[in-house]
Amino acid sequence: MDQNELKKAVAQAAANYVKDRLDQHTVIGVGTGSTANLFIECLAEFRHDINATVASSEETAKRLKALQIPVIDLNSAPEVTVYVDGADEANSYLQLIKGGGGALTREKIIAAVAKEFVCIADGSKLVDVLGQFPLPVEVIPMARSHVAREIVKLGGDPVYREGFITDNGNIILDVHNMSIVDPRTTESQLNQITGVVTNGLFALRPADKLILGTKDGLKTLTR
Ligand code: 5RP
Repeated sequence: MDQNELKKAVAQAAANYVKDRLDQHTVIGVGTGSTANLFIECLAEFRHDINATVASSEETAKRLKALQIPVIDLNSAPEVTVYVDGADEANSYLQLIKGGGGALTREKIIAAVAKEFVCIADGSKLVDVLGQFPLPVEVIPMARSHVAREIVKLGGDPVYREGFITDNGNIILDVHNMSIVDPRTTESQLNQITGVVTNGLFALRPADKLILGTKDGLKTLTR
């Protein structure tokens, strides 16, 4: 199986998992990115059974609506029953780096609200130590230089994501060469910098379940 087929397999597995738990109150959180897009296509097959979804980006909302899957505002959702999203990296503690697609802040908000967070990824995303993938940090535009200097003090090399504006009107600094031996501490330190909206480490709120597509089949890790 190639990488796309592995992504399809985990997307289908997550859709089956969600479908088995649906009732009239279920609200499904839907992530952003190529794996999440495949999950959306699977959701469309049982759209008539879906009470509501909340989207982690404008792009995801557009895709859900195009397939006539009901989307509501998070503020109108009494709960998020289960949130399904991809990741750029995951470790065996189900801590993640996310935000390659730039949707990290809304993704983190939905993860915070969700009763259950199911992460889906192809097996190449599983690493021993997070940080090979540059860590995205969403920043208020006027704070860009200040935040970059503070990140250098923490040992990272911030790179401005040229020509990219988030759904919230902010910019992204992708942090290279950051040694992330203690993800929870690094997540907190970055969030303490004035001007940072959030960062792409999901360690304080990791996934609850990680479904990985590998050449030997699906592997599920649970926290
Ligand atoms: C978007 C994300 C994505 O989940 C992450 O980038 C993985 O994307 P893909 O499924 O395309 O590999 O965090 O902000």
